[in-house]
Amino acid sequence: MANIVIVGTQWGDEGKGKIVDLLAEFADLVVRFQGGNNAGHTMVVAGEQFISHLVPSGILQKKTCIIGNGVVVDPAVLVEELDNLSNRGVDVGPGMLKISEKAHVIMPYHQRLDHAREKMKGDKKIGTTGRGIGPCYEDKASRRGIRFAELIDPEVFTEMVTSILKEKNFSLEHFFATEALDPQSMIDQYQGYAKRLAPHVTNISVFIYSAIKKGKQVLFEGAQGTHLDIDHGTYPFVTSSNTVAGNACCGAGIGPKEITDVIGIVKAYTTRVGRGPFPTELFDEIGDKLQKKGAEFGATTGRRRRCGWLDIVLLRNSIRLNSLTGLVITKLDVLDGLPSLELCTGYEYDGRIISDFPANLKVLDACKPVYETLPGWTEDITQIRKFEDLPKNAKAYLTRIEELTETPIQIISVGPGREETIVLKNPLI
Ligand code: GDP
Ligand code: IMO
Ligand code: MG
Repeated sequence: MANIVIVGTQWGDEGKGKIVDLLAEFADLVVRFQGGNNAGHTMVVAGEQFISHLVPSGILQKKTCIIGNGVVVDPAVLVEELDNLSNRGVDVGPGMLKISEKAHVIMPYHQRLDHAREKMKGDKKIGTTGRGIGPCYEDKASRRGIRFAELIDPEVFTEMVTSILKEKNFSLEHFFATEALDPQSMIDQYQGYAKRLAPHVTNISVFIYSAIKKGKQVLFEGAQGTHLDIDHGTYPFVTSSNTVAGNACCGAGIGPKEITDVIGIVKAYTTRVGRGPFPTELFDEIGDKLQKKGAEFGATTGRRRRCGWLDIVLLRNSIRLNSLTGLVITKLDVLDGLPSLELCTGYEYDGRIISDFPANLKVLDACKPVYETLPGWTEDITQIRKFEDLPKNAKAYLTRIEELTETPIQIISVGPGREETIVLKNPLI
């Protein structure tokens, strides 16, 4: 039996949604364990595109999906997502989608504070998705958050909102010079969501544990990417949760011994949305080509993604931080037609080569990527389904990634569709 964690190795948008959807066929449960609706996971099935922000990407494979305690949930977004899926014929009833009673709730003041803080920071802003993610995790850590357990208890919820809003409104009005929020309309609105979502709320730790004991296979779906991790990413240009595989345990309420494999999703080049360091970023026509051919626009905010070459220093960091047992390379087709490709194998800093990702942003900013050049290929690879059939230079590019990372590539994605995939080793069979 295998229970696997899937994480992004770069700065998010590596194609986690596509791969989770693909592998969910072989799993029984799919669990999101962190993040919130800052995530945008895209699945393309039979030519139809689905973008999921909160519902795990196993839902189209008709697998039981779980929103873990480590996720911060905006109930308005969740209800909208459930309605959309249901209108498209997908079963999202309480049997199919479970929500942890310990998951924290994103409130309107979280979004308001997210925007107000970014505005106040001016050109020093982080470039958040504006979804209230940071302020919600802050309240969780400072023990004034509201969980689903409280949301679905009208008396407790009313009391909490009334008391919390006093402080939030003070800071909104007097520090951020913006409008205060009305407690009663918020309570009424959220009690509507509570009624709607209550049948889904349960003790997911017990549910997952008993499934594992019965021999069921669990797929844990990460959001964001390793370099957006609150501890290990390019702080402060990060999200507010731990995105690394270790957090699958905390965010789902299981112990580390249940995890058998950890798969890292790697885009064949690198992208980043929002601000922050990006050593291999390209500002030339190749960067533009990657952005256009890869349709690199954020699935959540629609922002243009910054693009650059594949960074092996970043990848090695991810391999160590997550205990990656295998890699999935996505969007290899986007590199079709480039005359040559660059792989960043180290950074030059202060006259020497460093191969470990630095924590100090001043150092990182001064790092110059050291590249190894490989020949490109001219063929269109989107129809290829076997490794042997790939162009010689595409195989050489993949083999070099394996050599430099000392980690096996298990799946190669050559298009957004579920079937546009080359599976070398399925980690769930
Ligand atoms: P996630 O956040 O990691 O799930 O990734 P996103 O869904 O935000 O971004 C990945 C984008 O690339 C989506 O538009 C996918 O449909 C698309 N995609 C995924 N795999 C491939 C691939 O192999 N080739 C191409 N061309 N597009 C892909
Ligand atoms: P998926 O799961 C890419 C980025 C934001 C910003 C920073 C902090 O689709 O890969 P936040 O709203 O989390 O406080 O913003 O993190 N970010 C993402 N970038 N993919 C994501 O998710 C992201 N989620 C957050 O752009 O730079
Ligand atoms: Mg995304």
